[in-house]
Order: sequence, then C-alpha cells, then structure tokens
Amino acid sequence: MRYACLMSGIFSRPNNKQINDTDGPVLNDDKCVHFLQWALPRLHLNWTGYRKVRAQVCKRIARRMSELGQSDIDAYRIYLQHDSCEWGVLEECCRVTISRFYRDRRFFEFLSEDVLPALARRARQRGDSVIRCWSAGCASGEEAYSLSLLWHMVLMRQFPGMELWLVASDIDGVLIQRAVTACYPFSSLKELPGVWRDDAFLRTDGEYCLREAYRNGPVFRREDILSASFEKPLDFILCRNLVFTYFDLEKQKAALDMFKANLAVRGALAIGAHESLPEGENGMIRWHARMPVFYKRTQKGQEGRCSE
Ligand SMILES: C[S@@+](CC[C@H](N)C(=O)[O-])C[C@H]1O[C@@H](n2cnc3c(N)ncnc32)[C@H](O)[C@@H]1O
Repeated sequence: MRYACLMSGIFSRPNNKQINDTDGPVLNDDKCVHFLQWALPRLHLNWTGYRKVRAQVCKRIARRMSELGQSDIDAYRIYLQHDSCEWGVLEECCRVTISRFYRDRRFFEFLSEDVLPALARRARQRGDSVIRCWSAGCASGEEAYSLSLLWHMVLMRQFPGMELWLVASDIDGVLIQRAVTACYPFSSLKELPGVWRDDAFLRTDGEYCLREAYRNGPVFRREDILSASFEKPLDFILCRNLVFTYFDLEKQKAALDMFKANLAVRGALAIGAHESLPEGENGMIRWHARMPVFYKRTQKGQEGRCSE
C-alpha cells in the first residue's frame, strides 16, 4: 500500500518538484469552489481560509487533473474515491506557500520592543542564556530569517550573552531546500528595513542571497507540524498563516494543545494578523489587545503579567 502511495503521490514527481501553479489548464471557478467545499473538510482543512487564495489552488488541481488525463472535475472526484493515495497529492495541491520577510511590519516591531525583551529577561531570571523559538510552517525561511535578523540587528546588543535558538520547520521539502539556499526575489524583501537588506544580502543574478554570516541562525527541518516534538520547553512559537487559517477546528485544537505542551510557563505564541485562536477557554492569554500574540496561562488566578 505504501509503495502504491509513493508511486501515485508527490514522491513520484521528477526531482520532487512542486505542482506548478503558473500555467496549465484552467478549472471553472464555480466548479472548483464546489469541489473544494466537498474535498477540504475531508482533509481536515477549512474552506473559509481558502476563499481568497483559491485561484492558485484551483490552478494546481487543474494541472493535476491534466497529469492524470482528466478533463472533468467530477471524474477527478471519482478518482479520489477509488484511490486513497490521491488524497495526499490533493493535500499538497492545497498548501498555500505565500510568505515574505518582515511580514506585518508592526508585528515585528512589537516583537522587538516588547515580546523578545520580556522573553530574554525571563530566560535570565531562570538562569538561562538561551531563548528557544520555533517557526512552524516556515515556508522558504522568510519568517525565521526575519526573526534571526531582528535579533542580530537590534536585540543582541541589548542582551549580551543571550542566544536565540531557532528551529524552523515546514512539511514541504522543496521549500526547506530553498530556505537553506536562502536566495530570494526582491518582492520577498520589500518590507524588510532597507538598511538591513543592504547589510544582510548580496545581490547575485537578480536575486538577493543572505550573506553567510546571517545564514546559520535557524535550523531547518522538514516536518509535519503535528508530529513535531522538542526536548526542552520553548519560549516562543510562531505559527502564522497556517493552522488558524487553513486547518479545520479539530486540527486547530490539536495543534494548539501541542503548542501548549511544548511551551514553557508564560511562553509566547504568535499567530497571523488576521487569525484567531479557537473560541472559549483555550489556556492562552492575549499579550496585547491589538497584537496576535498570546502567552500560556499558568495556574488559575496566577496568570502574572506577560512582560514581567
Ligand atoms: C502561508 S505559508 C506561511 C509562512 C509563514 N509562516 C508566514 O506567515 O509568512 C504556510 C506554510 O505552511 C506549510 N504547511 C502546510 N501544512 C503544513 C503542515 N501540516 N505542517 C507543516 N507545515 C505545513 C506550507 O508548506 C507553507 O509553507
């Protein structure tokens, strides 16, 4: 069975290439929406999150259909019902990989002014010289390198002797390879402060490649977010624009439980600017009314203050 899945799934593609979403046949929007509303819940994904970004997903599905020689989405639906391995390919088609450096500038400023100094002070209080962080669903490394640059450019001087330990993971091996290569188009760097861009990147063949000195901050791993585990508690988890947009409620709750299990007491969780945590008591307290950052509740009635 596994062999059959390997042959019909993502691993059968030459050089493990991603499904290209820039060309190929077009799938009618109404039909694609109808299909996604049927298929996404079966993958524990949430249609609402896909509404705005469905065009790229529909293009990939159309391309997959043409790879299989199918011109009709209903035929593809029947194919899915008869080949359980195809669901893995469809799941890959549904991954949204958009990212950029310093995405949501105000968020990174908040990390710089508030969150990271508080985490560094707390690490010191417990006699530690390391802040332990995880960028979960890191795409091609844009978020992880942004955090690492922020640490180098601003916070390292304020907290001499303190180290930022950073793991960054993504389910997609092609993206992880890009993250390790660390070369990006200008469009990925637009939001990064210009001085940092000039200092940290070398321009080669129209791309901007991170200089060696800034590359060894994050350690990249290919991993499904739900199977991640860490030896020691984490001070900070960033999971932006993935779980709380694209996963269904059941998977959101499972991911949140896993984040809490891996967070240190009063460790912080950052989510995307337009995301929210599952409603109800979720064991997390908002760090700041206008920022998508939370910290882990301790015992009832002893929440403390996040910036203590
Ligand atoms: C929209 S990008 C977000 C990138 C970055 N966090 C940001 O906010 O800019 C979502 C990323 O999550 C990855 N992803 C999707 N499902 C995943 C899973 N189950 N485990 C780990 N990563 C996953 C995708 O490959 C994609 O790179």
